[in-house]
Amino acid sequence: MSNPASPPVVGVLAERPPLTFPPGFLWGAATAAYQIEGAATEGGRTPSIWDTFSHTPGRVVAGHTGDVACDHYHRLDRDVALMAELGLRSYRFSVSWSRVQPGGHGPVNQEGLDFYRRLVDQLLANGIEPWLTLYHWDLPQLLEDAGGWPTRDTSARFAEYTSLVAGALGDRVRYWTTLNEPWCSAFLGYGSGAHAPGRSDPADAVRAGHHLMLGHGLAVQALRSSARSDAEVGVTVNLYPVTPATDSPGDADAARRIDALANRFFLDPLLRGAYPVDLMLDLERVADFGHVHEGDLDTIAAPLNLVGINYYSRHVVAAPAAQAPPQPYWRTPSCWPGSEHVRFVTRGVPVTDMDWEIDPPGLVETLQRVYEEYTDLPLYVTENGSAFVDTVVEGHVDDPDRVAYFDAHLRAAHQAITAGVPLRGYFAWSLMDNFEWAWGYTKRFGMIHIDYRSQVRTLKSSGRWYAEVIRRNGLAAQ
Ligand code: FCB
Repeated sequence: MSNPASPPVVGVLAERPPLTFPPGFLWGAATAAYQIEGAATEGGRTPSIWDTFSHTPGRVVAGHTGDVACDHYHRLDRDVALMAELGLRSYRFSVSWSRVQPGGHGPVNQEGLDFYRRLVDQLLANGIEPWLTLYHWDLPQLLEDAGGWPTRDTSARFAEYTSLVAGALGDRVRYWTTLNEPWCSAFLGYGSGAHAPGRSDPADAVRAGHHLMLGHGLAVQALRSSARSDAEVGVTVNLYPVTPATDSPGDADAARRIDALANRFFLDPLLRGAYPVDLMLDLERVADFGHVHEGDLDTIAAPLNLVGINYYSRHVVAAPAAQAPPQPYWRTPSCWPGSEHVRFVTRGVPVTDMDWEIDPPGLVETLQRVYEEYTDLPLYVTENGSAFVDTVVEGHVDDPDRVAYFDAHLRAAHQAITAGVPLRGYFAWSLMDNFEWAWGYTKRFGMIHIDYRSQVRTLKSSGRWYAEVIRRNGLAAQ
């Protein structure tokens, strides 16, 4: 049953025609290691920053941790069987760095690698293309202790770890994502401190963003030499359209600033080999960019095979209210260094259980922008989905709001394809309910319901619906 308190996602569904996607469109679902695996202290794994953070009182809602999560580590067979039942063509998962290289540098932990070997082998045996993300936010704590992402050496460590994983799985895994959402790692991890490691220093956040991208560039080099020659290598960024609340010059400037930090901070170095000039000016009092060494931007802009985009919502922003005190840092710690004064405005449109506004046209805008302004590389939506309150009723979970969210965003994806965007695949977030970072287990995004007490898996109606989408390579009329 959907949350009775929440409004319907797209109102009364208007007549919606059937839509067919291009042949070979890659239909998938995504998860991340810390969010599902559990087995936090097993098989030689050492703590990551998320273990430390979640075990620190007050950091995660209700003190939830990823110690057990969905117990995927022990339930691999069942979970792959469920993926096969859904008919997934691809499964995007992440590797836990501290499971395969517990020291953060140096020797590999075979037991940790074996887990991912088994996963990859089982996926391939079921005709499911493995899509491997190397870094989904879980830095080994030992590397954080040595300075974390604000420290340049972490980039080199990431490349070394990438070589280990590519050496072990590079013959069987074709699709590789280096980083997942570096904005979150940098600006939530080191800016606002809302995510692990929970530090809040605006200059560190800017440095972390750079070193994450440098790590990405070095990891691309490692993949080119250790993975199979037809490897498809990319990075996943989380992008938001940023809209000014009004047409006032102040609101336009607020939108420019947030767009620079949220989107162009990453897109420009990765795809154009340069930081945007306006962004550097906005950050003038925060960071001097002395951490950018000669040659870094060439490394960062290494040629890719694809770009992954995670899309959830839109930012609508405004200049500070006229009566607001004129100090630049009144909302610190903030994940918007140098632009702390910008106001985020809600429009009163339907939201998900995360309070994120539901905005399918924003997906079309985002995809078109990347294609028109940045690259003609193949694009993939590597995450898109919604949290809603789910209830199990007699063994069934009916989640029409989530179905409507997927349907509306897939229609948007199709619209982008029709407009000429080379969108090649779509990954639903998420395969299963999981540990939603600072929200713990209180937010459910899955197509499979997890009962965290019994670990019983229940396919939701959205899962059944998605299986049908995959089967017909498109959407039925509504
Ligand atoms: C993204 C993350 C993913 C999940 C979704 C809801 O930012 O990549 O792990 O938490 O949001």
